[in-house]
Amino acid sequence: MCWIFAYNGDTDCREKLVNGLRLLEYRGYDSAGIVGVSKKKEIFLEKAVGRVSALASKVDARREDITLYTTGIAHTRWATHGWVTQENTHPHHSSDKRFYIVHNGIIENYKDLKKDLEKSYDFYSETDTEVVAKLIESLYDGNLKSTMEKVSTRLVWAYSLAVVDSQNPGTIVGIKLGSPLIVWTATDGIYISSDVNALSALAETYTLLEDNEMVVIEWKKYSIYMAGKQIERVSEKIDASQVIDELGNFNSFTEKEIFDIPSVLENVFSGRIDFEKKQINNETLEALGDLDIKRICIVSSGSSYYAGDMGCYFFRKFAGIPCQAIISSEFLSDVFLPDDTTLYVFLSQSGETADVRESMKIVKAKGCMTFGVVNVVGSTIARMADHWLYSHAGVEVWVASTKNVIAQVAVLLMMAVSLGLKKDMQITDARDLIAEMADLPDKIQETLMKGPKIKKIAKKYATYKHMFVLGRNYFYPVAGEASLKCKELSYIHCESYSAGELKHGPLALVSKKFPTMVFNPMGKFYAKTISNVQEVAARKGPILGIISSNDTHKELYTDTIELPETSELLSVFTGLVSSYLFALYLAEALDRDVDKPRNLAKSVTVD
Ligand code: AGP
Repeated sequence: MCWIFAYNGDTDCREKLVNGLRLLEYRGYDSAGIVGVSKKKEIFLEKAVGRVSALASKVDARREDITLYTTGIAHTRWATHGWVTQENTHPHHSSDKRFYIVHNGIIENYKDLKKDLEKSYDFYSETDTEVVAKLIESLYDGNLKSTMEKVSTRLVWAYSLAVVDSQNPGTIVGIKLGSPLIVWTATDGIYISSDVNALSALAETYTLLEDNEMVVIEWKKYSIYMAGKQIERVSEKIDASQVIDELGNFNSFTEKEIFDIPSVLENVFSGRIDFEKKQINNETLEALGDLDIKRICIVSSGSSYYAGDMGCYFFRKFAGIPCQAIISSEFLSDVFLPDDTTLYVFLSQSGETADVRESMKIVKAKGCMTFGVVNVVGSTIARMADHWLYSHAGVEVWVASTKNVIAQVAVLLMMAVSLGLKKDMQITDARDLIAEMADLPDKIQETLMKGPKIKKIAKKYATYKHMFVLGRNYFYPVAGEASLKCKELSYIHCESYSAGELKHGPLALVSKKFPTMVFNPMGKFYAKTISNVQEVAARKGPILGIISSNDTHKELYTDTIELPETSELLSVFTGLVSSYLFALYLAEALDRDVDKPRNLAKSVTVD
């Protein structure tokens, strides 16, 4: 998604804007731009196609311009309307180059607005955002705030935007409807941004705007308005979990986040599980147990969908509750049959994914029970949910979600056991599982130690163009998540299947050139999956087995990654981590930009 950043203060905005864009380039990175306004109404506009570094060099090349541009707005883009071109790069402006705008989201009725405005203005870009700049120009009534109130009544869904007026230096107006927008005071001025994650270094407090709210910054002071009336909003304090870590000795943030997983699991369990008493102690989970839950429906996207699907196996197994994982965009395009004995769980790392957010609005409108499992503190989905738990994975900066998936699966496991103990789950079974969960961070550490071996194997598989990923039961969604990671990091075409499905068609593709990765730790489904491995081996397909060290059919596999000894269920975690290392090293072997995979963005805030 795109990223908005803005500043007003006493010092020059250019470096602050570029650094702000750098900090959160993960949200979208196909082009970037800034505009600064000086107290003498001079304009500094610079745009660049490509990374923020390209913009930074262009801004730097004009450093002889020593004017003080104390007000400015900035943007990184993830193209929705129009190609990745210089013309389509933000900020966009009015035809008289007085008003400049940056925007995150989609203006659904921009074509109708444009048809009207084309009678008076020429357009230079294909974007919906330029249409808003012309609309501001056409409606301007001498005051930017009242003009933006009129403009916002003409715009249809969803956006957050920031506007400056070169004739009114020191003024920035921001509006939020759907896409996130945050205003915050720092020691050197007032900032606006689309994401809370990059604030920590500078800010003490921040305010998350609600839908239809407007923020007006004037000379280092800001006020918030709703429907034209000024309102008081409580600001939140920044907490440590929102601080972005340094890269340290890792090659990429993605690698660092995978190696963070043991400590992430400790954070997820801390204060929620009493390992001495082998029991789960958490008020939210306690309260959940008192609700009349006959069914669970988990709505999410991407990696969070696969985490949700793993959770469904846990709810069925431990709590005996029917559970279905639904892709949020499919939830939105299907008929919603509300049921007040169903718990609707919304899973999201960012807490801002548009399809999940909109699904939740539909469910809430019917008065059904909603539960959010979210990583970003204070994000929209967390604030909308009736009940919620944070996944406490820490700031997950880069596009490929890894440590947060593990945290989500651990939270869902705790929810399933907690609900199970309110139903028929044996306390002894719960205690045994909790005892084993206490060792999980160490088991993950053990898996990470296999990094060098996994790197060697990945180099070999990086030569292939396609790959199947197979698993049964919990390992079916694990296979789904592993194939997603391989796709988004290495760009190798990976497809996941339930192992039992292979002979119903996909087997036709298996050949010496088409390898298969199989999750098959010892357990209830081992034998069945071995027969699928034999089907592949019979067609000379290379097979990478993610197996237990005491596997009895090692000769069938071309290569193996042996998981540390755990129960079958907890090898979901070690299996996922080994697949993350495999996907990472596949991408490194192919020289991919691991932290900024092409065409992707960290959180998809428009539908
Ligand atoms: C995962 O690596 C991707 N970044 C993507 O599939 C992601 O999981 C999806 O967009 C959902 O994001 P969310 O968890 O923030 O809602």
